[in-house]
Amino acid sequence: MSKLKVGIVGVSRGGAYLRNYARSERTEITAICDLDQAKLEDVGKLLNLNDSQKYTDYDQFLTADIDIVIVGTPIPFHEEQVVKALEAGKHVLSEVTMANTVEGCKHIWETAKRAKGKYMLGENYMYFHFIKEWKKHIDNGMIGNIHYAEAEYIHNIRKLLMDKESGEHFWRTYRPPIHYCTHCLGPLMYLMGDDYIVKATGVGNKNTMVEEYWPSTIDMQVALFETKQGRGIKICRSQVTPRPEPHTVYYSVYGTKGFLENNRHGKDVVGMRYFEGFDKKSMPINCYENEVEAPDFAKNSHGTSDYYIAQDFLDCIEFNRTPILNEDRAFEITVPGLIAHEAAVTGNVWLDVPRFE
Ligand SMILES: NC(=O)c1ccc[n+]([C@@H]2O[C@H](COP(=O)([O-])OP(=O)(O)OC[C@H]3O[C@@H](n4cnc5c(N)ncnc54)[C@H](O)[C@@H]3O)[C@@H](O)[C@H]2O)c1
Repeated sequence: MSKLKVGIVGVSRGGAYLRNYARSERTEITAICDLDQAKLEDVGKLLNLNDSQKYTDYDQFLTADIDIVIVGTPIPFHEEQVVKALEAGKHVLSEVTMANTVEGCKHIWETAKRAKGKYMLGENYMYFHFIKEWKKHIDNGMIGNIHYAEAEYIHNIRKLLMDKESGEHFWRTYRPPIHYCTHCLGPLMYLMGDDYIVKATGVGNKNTMVEEYWPSTIDMQVALFETKQGRGIKICRSQVTPRPEPHTVYYSVYGTKGFLENNRHGKDVVGMRYFEGFDKKSMPINCYENEVEAPDFAKNSHGTSDYYIAQDFLDCIEFNRTPILNEDRAFEITVPGLIAHEAAVTGNVWLDVPRFE
């Protein structure tokens, strides 16, 4: 098979995909696009790209010789850029979240449904090694039927919300914490399988620690969800609460015959499990983010998840498989967070979560 040609817009976080696709025997990077000329030059140099392969104009970039577009720009640009790339016949791997409005998500969903190329949301946390191991245990019935799950992503990123010296607001200023819910819901919904969220509520409508930069500085937001199958889910998010690194990426899943959880104290650590009929008591379980067999270069800041999600997208294209994180699942793990924020600011009401068939 000839190499798939990859173009990347937004070379900052998009760099994770650059690293993986530049090394892959299945791909070559043929174009990059970014508004920041200096970054464009630096990355272009690293990849030995010529001037005609570097773009600041997205529409021009889409005319380049590319099969796959990686959308690595800030979330407010996802709707327009994903839709345009799909309409241009490209396969699209988009960074999280799907979009910042329900209408934006619907627009992408509708476009993806009729598109020639594949759409996949780059929810990499689903590809942590321990999440993939948990999935095998769950599918083998070790914890029975899941009735409840929860997740926390507590990451103090005040420096990414504002430039203290210039007072400049960055794009994340306008992102309520619970809008960034896919690192929580992606893995949980993957573990639950064929289910989706139908109702949402939320609390968290005050910023008592950092008074400006609303709504990103809401102290903490907690969302409760109910799924179609009647399961409960709780997720918890903050971008400002004082908690030095390591930040918390925590999951627990309770079933009719046991549970699985990692812990809140950092990466690659020991969690707990209980498998009824197999374990006499709760037992320690390794929760490594890194898969040992992965190549060394693939072991970066998100464990080996960036490497495996990049490979999975290529497999979907090569073997004409529907991505697990297709437009349906992207919608199902993004929109509940948008609705939970609405519920939190309107006074803790329960709201229906829309879905399209
Ligand atoms: N999956 C993860 O683990 C993870 C981690 C970090 C960020 N992200 C996601 O990645 C995306 C980017 O985040 P980031 O931290 O790199 O943001 P950033 O602000 O640091 O960088 C964004 C880059 O996109 C460029 N850019 C901005 N607007 C553009 C436009 N309209 N056209 C072309 N280029 C444009 C900027 O110049 C910059 O280089 C977001 O969607 C974010 O949610 C995901």
